[in-house]
Amino acid sequence: MMIWDNLESEYVDRTTTSKERYEELQKHVPAGVASTYRAWDPHPFVIDRAEGVYLHDIDGNVYIDFDMNNGAGMVGHTHPVVTEAVKNQLDDGTLFTHPHDLLAEAATELKKRWDAMDLIRFTNSGTESTMHAIRIARAYTGKNKLLKIEGSYHGVHDAVLISKSTPEGKLGHPDRPAKVIESEGIPEEIAETVEIAPWNDLDGVETIMREHMNEIGALIVEPIVMNVGVTQPYQEFLQGLRELCDEYGVAYIFDEVKTGVKVAPGGAAEYYGVKPDLVTLAKSIGGNFPVGAFGGREEIMRTIEDGAAHYGTYNGNPLVLRAVTTVLRDVLTESAYQHVNDLGEKLAAGYEDIMADTGITGHVKNVNSQGIVHFTDERIDNYRDYLEHIDPEFHENYWFAMLNQGVLPHPHHASQQWTISIQHEEKHISEHLEAFKNVAPRLAERQ
Ligand SMILES: Cc1ncc(COP(=O)(O)O)c(C=O)c1O
Repeated sequence: MMIWDNLESEYVDRTTTSKERYEELQKHVPAGVASTYRAWDPHPFVIDRAEGVYLHDIDGNVYIDFDMNNGAGMVGHTHPVVTEAVKNQLDDGTLFTHPHDLLAEAATELKKRWDAMDLIRFTNSGTESTMHAIRIARAYTGKNKLLKIEGSYHGVHDAVLISKSTPEGKLGHPDRPAKVIESEGIPEEIAETVEIAPWNDLDGVETIMREHMNEIGALIVEPIVMNVGVTQPYQEFLQGLRELCDEYGVAYIFDEVKTGVKVAPGGAAEYYGVKPDLVTLAKSIGGNFPVGAFGGREEIMRTIEDGAAHYGTYNGNPLVLRAVTTVLRDVLTESAYQHVNDLGEKLAAGYEDIMADTGITGHVKNVNSQGIVHFTDERIDNYRDYLEHIDPEFHENYWFAMLNQGVLPHPHHASQQWTISIQHEEKHISEHLEAFKNVAPRLAERQ
């Protein structure tokens, strides 16, 4: 990816210690990072510490953080109430491999938010949540195939790492997206257990479901495709899928790892008023602690008592469940949502105004705390639109330009969105927009 000359050199000059440390890190961990997405050219900045809405790197640069740990930080960094609760738990034990009351407390808080969840199990990540939800969906329906949406991301277990970021030229027919395995080391045979469907095309989904009606037991969707920007469903699409799942005997899974507790207290299920059979969660339910959960209809969840495996040493440990209960009960309150939603609207409107004033072609997609700017006038309604209309290089230059202004606008990639945390304030939105105003003329010139 080409970074415009002085943008790259400015970044490199500001991050000389990061560069050295990153070279050292690569001797110890592959690509110098703990998750491969975190490696990018010329080198990522290396973190010293985080506090509130700020990230401090080891060169002393400070960034206002709208990445918020890939959306895991709706409460912001080091939220004092969450930190205090977790500190107290440290003295009472951090891991029990026997039952304890926090399981019920945390589950109760989630059940208040999601009608769809009669029963809940806790995990340690989004990956584990989707893996288990898919397993029990198969166990319940007795049908082995998974239906997955082209371009959606659901973590890193084998069955979902198919057709997540299919390159142009390998897409196949729009009605029949090709199955493309995303990683070396995943057996080819896995693709035989998965079918890929287009997003926002109900007829397309139905055709595939009908054709494989005796095989497809689970449909997993990101109810807003958050790994393709903030790609919302058409009106009635999610409800349409609900009806198709009922008709064809398919368990309907909402992967709310990114949308859960962020687009509304009860996630996308509440936002769109649609009731899936199963919901998967992680990220912001834990206030920056590593946790996941899956839950759903009682008869499906009871398959866990009847042969469908869900085990794990760290599942539901009291340390993270203390965080979950505190986040859900005491921190993400009604007024916190009001605050975040207002800021989201202001940020989106500010971007639109600056683009209009400076002649940049683009539009903002915004759902409460989540938003993204696409530098195109074309609609982005699915993965193929994204591939066709988004210029990743232009976006990358916007991203570096913002970084050089001290604003981390979102995780590193044109497909990713900002998260506004409850610790952001009006002044952070103003500073974000001020930074964009500073870089906009340059972007307008190059577009
Ligand atoms: C929608 C969705 N599902 C699942 C996952 C995987 O979660 P984790 O990284 O906690 O394994 C992610 C991660 O970004 C995600 O965005």
